[in-house]
Amino acid sequence: MKTALITGINGQDGSYLCEHLLQEGYKVYGILKRNSVTENQTFRINSIFDEIADNLEYADLTDMPSLLRLISTIKPDHLYNLGAQSHVQISFNQPVYTSKTISEGTINLLECIKSSSPKTKFYQASSSEMFGNSIEKDGFQRESTPMIPVSPYGSAKLFAYNIVRIYRKSYKIFASNGILFNHESPRRGINFVTNKIAREAVMIKNGLSDKLVLGNLQAKRDWGHAKDYVRAMEMILNHKEPDDFVCATGQTHSVQDFCDYVFKKLNIPMNKIETSSKYLRPYELEELKGDFSKLKNATGWKPEYTFHEMIDEMIEHWEKNISK
Ligand code: NAP
Ligand code: GDD
Repeated sequence: MKTALITGINGQDGSYLCEHLLQEGYKVYGILKRNSVTENQTFRINSIFDEIADNLEYADLTDMPSLLRLISTIKPDHLYNLGAQSHVQISFNQPVYTSKTISEGTINLLECIKSSSPKTKFYQASSSEMFGNSIEKDGFQRESTPMIPVSPYGSAKLFAYNIVRIYRKSYKIFASNGILFNHESPRRGINFVTNKIAREAVMIKNGLSDKLVLGNLQAKRDWGHAKDYVRAMEMILNHKEPDDFVCATGQTHSVQDFCDYVFKKLNIPMNKIETSSKYLRPYELEELKGDFSKLKNATGWKPEYTFHEMIDEMIEHWEKNISK
């Protein structure tokens, strides 16, 4: 039986990846960061909790001894590094912690592999945020596009991306970067724009809220479904060579487009949307559209969910939960 260790197992992606790997026959271990509200921490993995309860361990990406203890004992076949302070706007408020979890955390894991489990294959959750406002003439970002980040989060992810490449070349560690564009689901944190819009719109529809307050409506993102993207992560580690791959849908929509679809579907007037400077970033990434042809050619991966199917699932989730 193949073994996998996931940092960030209770996050959006970690929970879907865990379900996917269990279905594929892996024994899955996970790292939990200590939280005072223990009972809330595992809500995303409740449906599989019994299967993995014995394999969950407290550790922290910034705490090297905790990582070394686990990796040297488990010696996993695959290590997926999904743990991070993953909110771009919050990274402007907490730049040091963001950098520590992402940059230092990634070095810590690679050092553990190097010293105690050199056959472990390593997946790094790299991000389209690393590109900043670089766009190719054809309107896409791809692996060869210059990476000039515009946030502390993007900058920390770029450091981690580079350290993965450096350890791959220097120490022959099987370490790959998945450069994932935005991906969403009903499990997305509600302070990310997509789930904020879906949840607040359903609240307005049910008379539980008056308005939706957002920041920049013109920003464009390439939004896919998290379930599709965790399949890509496993394919990247099962590819014959370690490498760096963009994972995206190849389509872009603005925050305004997202609102238009949700509000029209729920028949809510658009004047319920307001804007506030509170949600504007000091430095904004304006537009993302990813070219995933390298990943498709190497592994056959392509997205299965459409943009509208993904939004429909998020709305349905809130309709069920809010009516409860
Ligand atoms: P998420 O829902 O915010 O999950 C992040 C996970 O990291 C949570 O389980 C969190 O635990 C854990 N974590 C935070 N700080 C930690 C620390 N110091 N030590 C150990 N674990 C820690 O993020 P996601 O959307 O699933 O994204 C997964 C990864 O992909 C992240 O690295 C993110 O930056 C990257 N990424 C995401 C996207 C996207 O669109 N979703 C795109 C590109 C890259 P708690 O919940 O207990 O704090
Ligand atoms: N969060 C948020 N809240 N964003 C808003 C709001 C709001 O009220 N109003 C407008 N936006 C705009 C942001 O300015 C940004 O341009 C866009 O909506 C998307 O914001 P987020 O959903 O917070 O995602 P992100 O693109 O900044 O970051 C996500 O994607 C990255 C990949 O490109 C995160 O998942 C990162 O972890 C990930 O790496």
